Amino acid sequence: MNFKLSNPTRLYFGDQSLSYLSSELNNVKRLLLVYGGGSIKKEGIYDKVIDILKSETIEIFELSNVPANPTLDKVNEGTQLCINNNVDFILAVGGGSVIDCAKAIAVAAKYEGDIWDVIKHKKPANDKIPFGTILTNSATSSENNYYSVISKTDTLEKIGWAIWPLNFPVFSIVNPAFTTSVPKMHTIYGIVDIMSHLIEDYFHAKDINHPIISITDRHIETMLISMMALGKKLVNDLENIELRTSIAYIGTQALSTQDRHITEGDWACHAIEHAISAVYDIPHGGGLAIVIPHWMKFAVKKAPHKFVQFAANVMGLKQQPDLSDYEFGCLGITAFEAFLKTIEAPLKLSYYQIDDREMDQMVSKTFGSLQTIGKLVSLNHQDVKDILLSCL
Ligand code: NZQ
Ligand code: ZN
Repeated sequence: MNFKLSNPTRLYFGDQSLSYLSSELNNVKRLLLVYGGGSIKKEGIYDKVIDILKSETIEIFELSNVPANPTLDKVNEGTQLCINNNVDFILAVGGGSVIDCAKAIAVAAKYEGDIWDVIKHKKPANDKIPFGTILTNSATSSENNYYSVISKTDTLEKIGWAIWPLNFPVFSIVNPAFTTSVPKMHTIYGIVDIMSHLIEDYFHAKDINHPIISITDRHIETMLISMMALGKKLVNDLENIELRTSIAYIGTQALSTQDRHITEGDWACHAIEHAISAVYDIPHGGGLAIVIPHWMKFAVKKAPHKFVQFAANVMGLKQQPDLSDYEFGCLGITAFEAFLKTIEAPLKLSYYQIDDREMDQMVSKTFGSLQTIGKLVSLNHQDVKDILLSCL
């Protein structure tokens, strides 16, 4: 087991966390404020941040209307603002889309050339404008990791990219109170996305009896069990600060754990979902809620042992001697689907009016230049097509 680890992000968590913003911006003179479609103005977060920036006599430039599934066009717009105004710090205030857009702008503003080449991992980059984040939606862990996902609308591509450790925020402020206004559907998407990151890392190809894997698996199981209990309550009690705090705590870790460097999980569901949202621009968590159970139904046939563990340790089912591993694994998947129904997550692509018309396009976007995806279960083009057809 080998891994390299560096998480340089200074993370401020809790109801006092915004008070650290001033000291973090001590030497900043010209700042680009990046935000989305207006929720931060409606909820008063914008005014609070602006007051602090003004008290530090920082000159402010703004990039607003960053869309969900942030686009290369928006990245280029922000990059120009940075270059034209000699910006020395970027502050992202929003959910994963806003943070991911800021990550790309930060690198693009210091990169001579087309940032899309860097995003597609064709060219290296090693400099950035420093950036910090104020999180308003718990979902991606982008506030605490070095990943970013950017869409290019003309070619219908949605690419996840990562430069370690360059793309970590300098600091992130996670005040769970800022997430209490996230609407119900986006709250559901966030719950699903956090769980999906844990699930991707849990369904790995490593030996489940290895002593280190038995630690990482138990850790992931604990977070998944907690997420199900919290998620069921939160969807009916959106402003509950204790629930929001617990979910923000897990959300900040899910795609940022040490475990994931050990397990090197499957990640096929994310590849498939990114292709769906590249073609149809649907919310990431909604796509995952649809894809994951259908991927599970495919994968359980190939790797039942891992689904036995999931059924028993995550879904809490009692093993039955008369059932095969496959049959017991399927019971776990049914229980997981029931959980998704309880939180009112979408379960079929028809929820977003998606039919089979762009099927080949979605399959091809899933793979890019790869021949196969998935670690626990290797999928080829036909396998992904079968999974997507079962999602319709
Ligand atoms: O645009 P505004 O007005 O801010 O509204 C947003 C948006 O409509 C709203 N929202 C956010 N905070 C709110 C709020 N509304 C009311 N009150 C608040 N406090 O929520 C909507 C969704 O926001 P968005 O940022 O798009 O959601 P999320 O955090 O789920 O981010 C999704 C993006 O992240 C990518 C996804 O693919 C997608 O592009 N991912 C990023 C990852 C990463 N960087 O590590 C990993 C993930 O697997 C994922 O792929
Ligand atoms: Zn995700």
